[in-house]
Amino acid sequence: MSHHLVECREVSFTYPDGTPALRDISFRITHGEAVAVIGANGAGKSTLLLHLAGVLLPQSGTVRVGDVLVDSSHLDEVRRTVGFVFQNPDDQLFMPTVFEDVAFGPRNLGIPEDQLENRVLEALRSVGADHVRDRAPYHLSGGEKRAVSIATVLALQPKILVLDEPAANLDPVNRRKVIRLLTQFSHTRILATHDLDLALDVCDRVLILHQGRITADGNAETILRDENILRQNGLELPLRFQGPMLPKD
Ligand SMILES: Nc1ncnc2c1ncn2[C@@H]1O[C@H](COP(=O)(O)OP(=O)(O)O)[C@@H](O)[C@H]1O
Ligand SMILES: [Mg+2]
Repeated sequence: MSHHLVECREVSFTYPDGTPALRDISFRITHGEAVAVIGANGAGKSTLLLHLAGVLLPQSGTVRVGDVLVDSSHLDEVRRTVGFVFQNPDDQLFMPTVFEDVAFGPRNLGIPEDQLENRVLEALRSVGADHVRDRAPYHLSGGEKRAVSIATVLALQPKILVLDEPAANLDPVNRRKVIRLLTQFSHTRILATHDLDLALDVCDRVLILHQGRITADGNAETILRDENILRQNGLELPLRFQGPMLPKD
């Protein structure tokens, strides 16, 4: 069964203004894996994730999600399978209240109204955002928006979760909540993150992107302890491997 497989084969993508963002990307992620995509700013992480969700389509090469080729004729299927959390919550939230935003997707899938409230509250609770259910999303803080945008996707109960910077702007308590949630999610998880400690807590595998190419793909702990590989790719060791910050004199 290749049901929950995510696969890129020789994927390249250049933005319309001529900026090359992905060059010859190939990998295969199987069911239940948790994979962190890391790399410096501009490395291509968001562009790659947008391809996995069918928001962008490859200019060359192929992307497969489960048994489905990601192309313009299969976008409904891809979006039912892949829950995608955008880097910028303002791209995700558009309804007048948080509740309506989280209810929007499940309602579209035909979830009966009497189950809807539970589904929405459960999703909001799991990211610590149930207290903002009646607020307007555009008035929330950055961290609250991030939590709600994750809830909009969890409420759809997707088979594959793809998250772009899921912990950005979260306070330590809610960051830990998101880590716990991602650790408990039993299906495939793919996340782009600058937070290498989170990558270490959640992921078994790491892909490093550098200038649109994959420069490392392997065991998370091995890669995240390798100061040379990290440095060559514009990254630093996770905080927990950096040792105490001692005064120099
Ligand atoms: N809409 C866009 N138009 C033109 N270039 C873009 C656009 N979005 C991103 N880029 C460029 O593509 C490259 C990869 O960007 P991105 O995927 O956002 O990287 P990351 O998420 O790793 O920071 C960068 O050089 C960035 O400037
Ligand atoms: Mg990005």
